Parts: sequence; structure tokens; C-alpha cells
Amino acid sequence: MGTPEQILSDRLAHAFETVVGEPVDPLVQRSQFADYQSNAALGSAKRLGRKPRDVAAAVLAAAALDDLAEHTEISGPGFINMTLRPQVLGRLAGAVGADDRLGVPPVPVPETVVVDYSAPNTAKEMHVGHLRSTIIGDAAVRITEWLGHRVIKRNHLGDWGTPFGMLIEHLLDIGETEAAAELSVGDLNTFYTAARRKFDGSDEFKERSRRRVVLLQGGDEATLRLWRLLVAESKQYFMKVYDSLDVRLVEADFVGESAYNDELASVIAELDRLGLLRRSEGADCVFPAGFTGRDGEPLPLIVRKSDGGYGYATTDLAAIRDRLTTLGATRLLYVVGMPQQQHFAMVFTTAREAGWLAPPARATHIGFGSVLGADGKVLRSRAGGTIKLVDLLDEAVDRATRAIAEKNPELDAGSRAEVARAVGIGAIKYADLSTDRLRDYTFDFDRMLSFEGNTAPYLQYAHARIRSIFRRGGVTPGYDGTPVQIGEPAERVLALELLAFPDIVAAVSETMEFHRLANYLYALATAFTTFYERCPVLKAEEPSRSSRLALCDLTARTLATGLGLLGIAAPHQM
Ligand code: ARG
Repeated sequence: MGTPEQILSDRLAHAFETVVGEPVDPLVQRSQFADYQSNAALGSAKRLGRKPRDVAAAVLAAAALDDLAEHTEISGPGFINMTLRPQVLGRLAGAVGADDRLGVPPVPVPETVVVDYSAPNTAKEMHVGHLRSTIIGDAAVRITEWLGHRVIKRNHLGDWGTPFGMLIEHLLDIGETEAAAELSVGDLNTFYTAARRKFDGSDEFKERSRRRVVLLQGGDEATLRLWRLLVAESKQYFMKVYDSLDVRLVEADFVGESAYNDELASVIAELDRLGLLRRSEGADCVFPAGFTGRDGEPLPLIVRKSDGGYGYATTDLAAIRDRLTTLGATRLLYVVGMPQQQHFAMVFTTAREAGWLAPPARATHIGFGSVLGADGKVLRSRAGGTIKLVDLLDEAVDRATRAIAEKNPELDAGSRAEVARAVGIGAIKYADLSTDRLRDYTFDFDRMLSFEGNTAPYLQYAHARIRSIFRRGGVTPGYDGTPVQIGEPAERVLALELLAFPDIVAAVSETMEFHRLANYLYALATAFTTFYERCPVLKAEEPSRSSRLALCDLTARTLATGLGLLGIAAPHQM
């Protein structure tokens, strides 16, 4: 069947081909002046040397849209405006209503998709950048899985490298029991900062740390045991954050930097064999094409430092080779902040030059901006340090608890706790996902928890309100096959929004621009509010009543599904 956009697109594509003599994308989109418009006549006319309005008229005649459109016109320089027949909208809405996937079929050919996200660093507090990565990555996982792809989650934990020398020495200094106690309550900052302070202040400690790194890299069993302890305690803390955040990451998804240790030498050997390795100032480097520094000199990706050690880039090369060749993925997503954009561009180019990354496989850096505080600077705690993420999440839930108690004092305590969690955590996620991810966003509890505006609570409340219509009317939710009738303008607007869901999901799964899904849900909720103001539902006569209940049901399911793709729960009552 398809969405109205797809149906009109198909029809017009044929018409364009007849008129123009070659395939043309009709560029159908929602319109301010009609239901849909096509702007493609302008470009075609230019190529043909004809008047755009004449081309538009010829296309419209060839398309014979009578069965679909009740009105068509050519406007302005040559836009084709189309208004659908109400019966067509009703029929399409009914078909979507009867589909538990809301018109979004699983993809015909599932891909293996690796999503690299979250990736905090062991024995160090997660910062708001890791929070963003976790939230955006989780949404990427959900939408990709929902479309039927095979998704492999990779939490590329920073669990290896020089800082471990100092961390292990500090652990030995304070004793294992004390260290474990500090780390298990999530006091990662205290632990890390103390180690760092000693490292910076004492040459003796610095020297011990250096020797410890050598032992660690040399596979010394006693050192490895201490390292494992540090990693295990941190993982436990990170899992706590993930559980409160309600994201899909589990322990099995932790495949940290250390997991690639055994591959590093062979990656370098392969790069060497391919002739991609060059020695520069004692280090082994690759110089991926197209990257130059400020001085115009080619930029190196250092794969083996002059002291023989491997670094961040080497690990990422091993990881990308593993994901493409061993795991057989055809789509790689790296959800990491914008400061690492160039790093990933260089890693991808190197992987291409090595032949690991080749079509149809593709790799994309899903970058994002910073989280700012009210002062416009990167978000910090009142004391000026890194914010403890669990505290941030707890505060959101606390505030939501108060807001819910005020809004609905009748709600029983059990439901209230559940709703408060959905609202508090949902608010944080939505504030993040509803802004263009490339932009910085300001962390503002009051705004994100408001029941008005483009927020999670607003959408969750809109959803719960629709569910309450069914409760009040004693009607079982779900679509019973009633014909959907589109009469009132508000019904038409609502139907058009509902029918746009599949196209939005398709676009977002490609670009991972979740603000487009968020904006869509907001527009849908707004269209529903107008509909509900103008069109009585429970009090309407049949067959209107059933038809409107079907629209209510479909709206509720679309809101819940859409929020679900963003990782946000939609309680039935709040
Ligand atoms: N641990 C890194 C950091 O905190 C992020 C790792 C991102 N993933 C990757 N494959 N490099 O900045």
C-alpha cells in the first residue's frame, strides 16, 4: 500500500518519465497550501527548455490522479498541489490502524549494524558527553532493531592504556578493600583525582606508575588481577547508570579497548603488507589521503608510538577491521562527540585504503555537540567538577515525582513512582534527542520537565489522555476494522500526520536525526489536541464515534511507538 507520499510519488514518477523522457524524482512533500506538493517540474522544465507551468500541467494530466485527489492545481512558478480525497485518507488510515507496525514493514534485507556508543573510561566518572552518546546510541539501536536489522552493540570502554599504571599504584596504596568500596559506590572521581594528584606531585609515584604500565602490557598476572578489579568495579557502576537510564546496554556489550590487544600487532602487520605504513619521527604511521594539518603537511594516524606502544587509533583500526571482516557488518555507527570527528574520518579512510571498508558497507560518525549549563558553559557541578550522572538522574526523577503528585494527586503511590521514573528519565532523553544533535543543548530541568511545549512530559501526557478516553468510555483500545471517515478539517490534519509516520521513521533511521522524529511527535500531539477540541469522540453519533475512536487509538499507538523508538516510556495513566 504505502504512505500517501509514496503513492503520489510513484504515480508522478511515471507521469514525469512520460513527459520528460527520463526518470525524475517528483520530490513529493507535505504542503502548506494543500496536502502534498511536488516541486520537480521546475528542474525538469529547465532541462527541457520549456515553461515550468506547462511541464507541471502535462505531468498532472499524465498522472490522472482523479481516483486519489479531490483537488489538484498548479501554483506559483509550477508547483503541483494535491489534496487527497477524504475516502483515500480514511482507507489509508484504516490500513495503518489494522497494522500493529503502523505502516512500517520490517526491512526486506536486514543488515548487520554495529553501534559504538556510551564508551566511558574505567575508573573515571562518566561525563555528560557519555550521557549524550548513551542516549543517542540507544535510540539508534532501537530504531535499527525495530526495522528488523541485526544490531550489535559495542560499548568501547576506555579500559586500557597509560592511566592504568597510576590507577593500579593508587589502588595498591589505599588497599584493595578501600578501593573497591570507593569504586562500588560510584565514587570514581575521588579515586581518579587522588591518583592523578599523586602522579602529578610525586616523581617516585610517577616512576612506579610507569613500571606498572610495563608490567600490565607485559601480561604480568598480579598486575592484570588488579586491573581486572578496577574494570569490574567500574563496569558495575556504569551498569547502574544504564539501568536507571533504561537503555539496552548489557554487560555483554562491553567490548572495551583492551579486547583488541591481541589484534593490534596483526593490524599493523597487515597495514605494513599493504604498503600503508610509514615511519615518521620514530613512530609507525599511516597517512590517510586527504588529511593535512595547518601547515599543509599530511596528517599522520599514529599506529605505533616511538616507544613501541599502541594508542587509541590502533585500537580503533583493530575494532573497525573486526566489525567489518569478522562480524560482517555493513553499517557502522560511531556515536561520539564532535571533537573526535577528524579521528573517525581518518580511521574510516584508512579502513577504506586497507580494503576493509568497501561498499555496500559504510561507516558513519554520529557526532553531537556539548551539554551546556544555564551559564552557557559546559555543564559542571556546583563545585565546578564533573557532574555525577546518577545524581543528575536522581534529581530528574525527584522533580518528576513532585510534578506528578501535583498534577494528579489521585494516582496511587506505586504508579506514581513508575510514572515519575518514566517522566524524569524521559525528560532528560527527550531534551537531548529533540535538538539537532550537532548543536549544543542547554540542560534545564525546569524546561525539560514542563508539561507544556515540546517536551517528554507533554507527549507522555497527551498519550495518557488518549488512553483515558478509552477508560472513560469503557471501550477496549485497539482497531476493530471500523471504516475511518475523514470529515472535519481537524480529522484531515490528524490523518495526514498519522500517515506520515513511516516516512519519518525511514528518514530518521538513515540520518539518525532524532529531532525530526521528536518534532513529528510534537506535531502529531498538537494535531490531536486540535482534533479533540473540535470533534467530540465519546459523545459523537455512530459511525463517527467509532471512526474517531479509531483515530484516537492510532494516535496513542503512534505516540507510544515513536517515544519507544527514542527510548522513552509512555505510561497509560499519569
Ligand atoms: N572512551 C572514549 C572517550 O571517552 C570514547 C570512545 C568512542 N569510541 C571509539 N570507538 N573510539 O572519549
